Amino acid sequence: MRRTALILGAVALAAVVAVLLVLVLRDPTRPEPAPGPSPSATAPADLTTVLSTGFDDPEEGVAGWEPLGDGVEVARSEDVPHAGSGSLLVTGRTEPWHGAQVDVTGMISPGVEHTVSAWARLGQGGGEDTGADRSGEVRLTLQRTGDDEQFWHLATARVTADGWTALTGTVDLPADTADGEWRLYLESTGTLADLRLDDVQVARPTPPVQTDIASLADATDIPIGTAVAEQDLTGRPAELLLRHFDQLTAENAMKPAVVQPAEGEFDFAPMDAILDFAVAHGLTVHGHTLVWHKSTPEWFFTAPDGRPLTDSPADQQLLRDRMRTHMQAIADHLAERYGTDQPVSSWDVVNEPLDPTSSDGLRHSPWYDVLGPDYIAQAFTTAREVFGPDITLYLNDYDTDAPDRRRGLVSLLTSLQSAGVPIDAVGHQMHLRLGSSVERVAATLDAVAALGLRQAVTELDVALTASDQHLDSVSTDQLTEQGDLVRQLVEVFVAHDPEFLSVWGLYDTRSWLRSWPRERPLESPLLFDDDLQAKPAYQGFLAGLTAG
Ligand code: XIL
Repeated sequence: MRRTALILGAVALAAVVAVLLVLVLRDPTRPEPAPGPSPSATAPADLTTVLSTGFDDPEEGVAGWEPLGDGVEVARSEDVPHAGSGSLLVTGRTEPWHGAQVDVTGMISPGVEHTVSAWARLGQGGGEDTGADRSGEVRLTLQRTGDDEQFWHLATARVTADGWTALTGTVDLPADTADGEWRLYLESTGTLADLRLDDVQVARPTPPVQTDIASLADATDIPIGTAVAEQDLTGRPAELLLRHFDQLTAENAMKPAVVQPAEGEFDFAPMDAILDFAVAHGLTVHGHTLVWHKSTPEWFFTAPDGRPLTDSPADQQLLRDRMRTHMQAIADHLAERYGTDQPVSSWDVVNEPLDPTSSDGLRHSPWYDVLGPDYIAQAFTTAREVFGPDITLYLNDYDTDAPDRRRGLVSLLTSLQSAGVPIDAVGHQMHLRLGSSVERVAATLDAVAALGLRQAVTELDVALTASDQHLDSVSTDQLTEQGDLVRQLVEVFVAHDPEFLSVWGLYDTRSWLRSWPRERPLESPLLFDDDLQAKPAYQGFLAGLTAG
């Protein structure tokens, strides 16, 4: 690798380490002033992360990484993570080139320099290479696959089994590198030991954020929100964010699995990073989420002796207590850290309670199994007591435009209302796709409005494909059609006087649909493209906002 590339890699790594140190060293118990400097001053100003995997989410598992070589297996392991709760373990290697690979098609742009960083260490095995001080050389390689395949060895390092070693490098891809299928893989140059990999990041330069287009937030009085993770809060993503949005939802940082991974052990740091940013820039935050069947640790539903909770009165009381304790800890933390400036103005109290295929239309989640259908009412009553009368309490669900789910929603809301449950509003996630019916969306918004409830669009994205379709390339026609659908949808939303309109991600690279329910490297469901530039979907959104 070229010397300058190494130096650049080291500089990039030093910057990442410095940021991490600041985050780690911050005392989470001590309220501190929200960060002041503008995001562009905190750099890395012109880098966009196109791949970021920490193997920390059990639900995401190996996050699209696959075995490379016959007999190789990859698995998420919680043994010795570099950071967070998991890393990738590669076993069954019988050749040095055997390792783990991930499809990065759509993330790689010819003609620009890509920065790659990751952490690696050895696992078990390695033939004669045994003993405490055994080591081996591993490397990350980028490959363009197909007839005209090309390889770039991005980063090489000698790693050991005793600790993690950083692997960093950059690659300047020639401008004439044709588009194609790309993969990134970890291999060794000799050792056959198991390999461990963690915290892989690929970044590339982003063109400047457009300053000659209208701000979405400035075009309307309706709060315009987006889901964010910490990586969206610096550099150019943050510039884009502050230009167009005035509300945030934490994509994952306020979910129970992050906030209370083990009973009584709260981690508010990821949430604080987002709330600090909101306070510093005068944005509101929609809290997401309190009671859900996903991203909720098993301990919630497990008795102290390790057995699953039942619907016995004692177990029910335990789960109700845990529900309240969780909410109260968050409320106390917000009050302590932000006082009257706390930015969270609403909460998804119950997320995704509907299941039209069940006998009573409700999802039979662990919450339901222990507490019965009443868990929903209990969650709202508790949230009202804990968060107070000024916080808007939402029931949030997906596909509420589907007729069977609409019926289930209306029947649930009606029964909650007649029981006097303190629910204020309905969140419609609106994970839609090309071909979604605007009329069905309007019918659902009408139905909820007729109940006298407030409503918001909480997680809008408009996928180009259904989740089981493969997208080989993205055509201009598809993007135009997407823009047109977004315009029609936003017009309908605005006509229903929403509390806010929020999209599920700032720009296409950051969409959850890139990896759910499987790798979809070209799926592009958001308003801004991988380079943070406005798409026809942005134009459509703006036109929809200003149509009336
Ligand atoms: C998704 C996040 O975007 C992913 O990063 C995470 O791995 C899984 O959850 N409905 C919701 C959101 O309410 O919380 C989900 O967010 C998307 C679907």
